[in-house]
Amino acid sequence: MALWGGRFSQAADQRFKQFNDSLRFDYRLAEQDIVGSIGWSKALVTVNVLTATEQQILEAALNELLKEVQTDPVRICQSDAEDIHSWVEQQLINKVGDLGKKLHTGRSRNDQVATDLKLWCKDQIPLILAAIKQLQTHLVETAEKYQDAVMPGYTHLQRAQPVTFAHWCLAYFEMLKRDESRLSDTLARLDVSPLGCGALAGTAYPMDREQLAHWLGFQSATNNSLDTVSDRDHVMELLSNATISMNHLTRLAEDLIFFNSGEANFIELSDRVTSGSSLMPQKKNPDALELIRGKSGRVFGALSGAVMTFKSLPLAYNKDMQEDKEHLFDALDTWYDCLEMASLVLEDIQINYARCKEAALQGYANATELADYLVAKGVPFRDAHHIVGEAVVGAIAKQKMLEDLSLGELQQFCAKIESDVYPALSLESCLSKRCAKGGVAPEQVKFAIAQAKGYLG
Ligand code: ARG
Repeated sequence: MALWGGRFSQAADQRFKQFNDSLRFDYRLAEQDIVGSIGWSKALVTVNVLTATEQQILEAALNELLKEVQTDPVRICQSDAEDIHSWVEQQLINKVGDLGKKLHTGRSRNDQVATDLKLWCKDQIPLILAAIKQLQTHLVETAEKYQDAVMPGYTHLQRAQPVTFAHWCLAYFEMLKRDESRLSDTLARLDVSPLGCGALAGTAYPMDREQLAHWLGFQSATNNSLDTVSDRDHVMELLSNATISMNHLTRLAEDLIFFNSGEANFIELSDRVTSGSSLMPQKKNPDALELIRGKSGRVFGALSGAVMTFKSLPLAYNKDMQEDKEHLFDALDTWYDCLEMASLVLEDIQINYARCKEAALQGYANATELADYLVAKGVPFRDAHHIVGEAVVGAIAKQKMLEDLSLGELQQFCAKIESDVYPALSLESCLSKRCAKGGVAPEQVKFAIAQAKGYLG
């Protein structure tokens, strides 16, 4: 039975009912709806709507229902209730009879759904934070393992300067650190209870909403009832967080897909996260990474979808807002899965040291070194840059690397070049010179790993 039948003489059209009902997705709020209802029943005692004994009966029945939904959540969807709020109320009435009909006194589904969704977010955020931390742990472990794996660093996908695989790993560690911090901020901001704001103007029962908020585990209660029932900032914020973090994961995926390509051949992915081709027997495809890259589209789409849905809505609650949940649920599920999958990929990634080093030596990735060498010999950097550019052209013409040019050949570009140029052009020198904070020098990377481990605890 619908919650609002009295005003209506005709039943809802089946097609409308299907269009309108949200149970098939908001069943995921069952636990939060029950927990919120228990809190509400306690508040109703303080305003003399329920006696303490009645409240105990309701709380016991709600706790029983909680256990039932925890063991068999799918059962909920078999009902034809309009939404999770109607479903919980109906179940309660089935259990305790007419007393169950008192629970909705002074409450609206508008403050109720806002509360449920915030409680759900509060339950989900720690799971995502843990998945972020797990991926960071894998990145740091991989970094520690591959501190001496020198490979080319790229800009414009052109070999630019040598880096190490460890330094690459730590770049993603930093991105995830920002993701973590954004998510923690969001959690703090949404930790404010909507319950007791009624449909839009506030509840007509003079209760202590701060106390109710604490019963529900919120830090405090919201300030304005109109704002409260209309507010879905936390949905947009979480989707923004997911969007930024998924953006990071797509870059990680893309880098690894490239490193894994036949052309680069820097890494080997485990059989556990790759798949074969139905036709080409030699293939081992990086599906896990491609799906991380691909699934980002759902998350970015969810953010734009949600923002579009909330845009220009008049105060206060409008049914449009029911569209918040599918976006949020799908995006957070996807985000979590992708974090987990990225961890799995890193778990047993293999680095092809020889090939990485070979590539780092090619492509004139030490050209900046030669320019810096000339600067040390008193040549202004702009001139040095020009000289080295000419030297690179000369080396390309001879199909040689810079360090393979003889001293005589090098001196044709600048007379100041001496035999000490060769150690300066080595990979070791390229790396170790970058010893300022954040640089790729081995001791800086070692320090960054130690810092990261301290952070992870
Ligand atoms: N299913 C609704 C939602 O998700 C619950 C709130 C319904 N409120 C209302 N006034 N019809 O938003």
